[in-house]
Amino acid sequence: MPNVAFINGAFVPLGEAKVSIEDRGFQFGDGIYEVIRTYKGRPFALEAHLARLDRSATALDLTQPYSRAEWTHHVLEGIKRAAYSESKVYIQVTRGVAPRDHAYSDEVTPTVVMTVCEFHPLDRSLQAAGVEAITTEDIRWGRCDIKSVNLLANVLARQKVKQAKVFETILVRAGLVTEGAVSNVMVVQGGTVVTAPEGSRILSGVTRTVVLDLALSEGLPIQERFVSQEDLYEADEVFLTGTTVEVLAVVRVDGKVIGEGRPGPITQRLAADFTSRVG
Ligand code: PDD
Repeated sequence: MPNVAFINGAFVPLGEAKVSIEDRGFQFGDGIYEVIRTYKGRPFALEAHLARLDRSATALDLTQPYSRAEWTHHVLEGIKRAAYSESKVYIQVTRGVAPRDHAYSDEVTPTVVMTVCEFHPLDRSLQAAGVEAITTEDIRWGRCDIKSVNLLANVLARQKVKQAKVFETILVRAGLVTEGAVSNVMVVQGGTVVTAPEGSRILSGVTRTVVLDLALSEGLPIQERFVSQEDLYEADEVFLTGTTVEVLAVVRVDGKVIGEGRPGPITQRLAADFTSRVG
């Protein structure tokens, strides 16, 4: 089945979807994006992703060309056309095509792109065993809450992950854990689930919100505050959350064993709750 592309209102084969070299997304990274996956063919938490797309657009003074209802229609249509058993939907809105100048004009029409590809869920054995992470200095800009296509720091961080042959890197800024390069990070300390607070230092993950709600439903105390790199190493449990990773135990960070070196009881409970929630 071919991957589906959507560009400025029309569905076309992926190879035919072309954007101008003067697109500001290409020249300045002046754009925003979302990644949504399906469960049983239905997009998960689409409303929350579209709400975040709106927030990112507002933060960058970028005109969002489609309403939530229109986006929902296009996303569902793309998933239908791709006809995969599970899909990954990528949405990108850039400020549009204009002669190169850092400052922008209100006249520019945004470029809207969507692709729908096959989604390959993580191997269940990874979930059972947990994964390894490293830490990297968080060198991103001051508005990590905006899901911007400016991903250079994340690109460099993920390259370190590849070179180290681990699963993810946990970003640390001034000694404090912010999040993963493509995920949010939670730790368990004495039964409390702790994660970095929403704000300019992290992307507020859609999965993060779902998992915090699940923790509350389980009666687990939660705290939204930063933990130090030392706290991370000494945590009872560490796990990642995200669209592509769901709830995933981290059992080793920078070569140091976390807890018992296997997915802990709270991570397992939340992973199971998450599976029931999406199923
Ligand atoms: N990224 N933090 C960062 C920096 C991320 O890039 C992501 C997801 C998350 C998790 O957010 P959510 O639960 O809404 O997926 C947190 C996507 C998957 C990506 O860039 O491909």
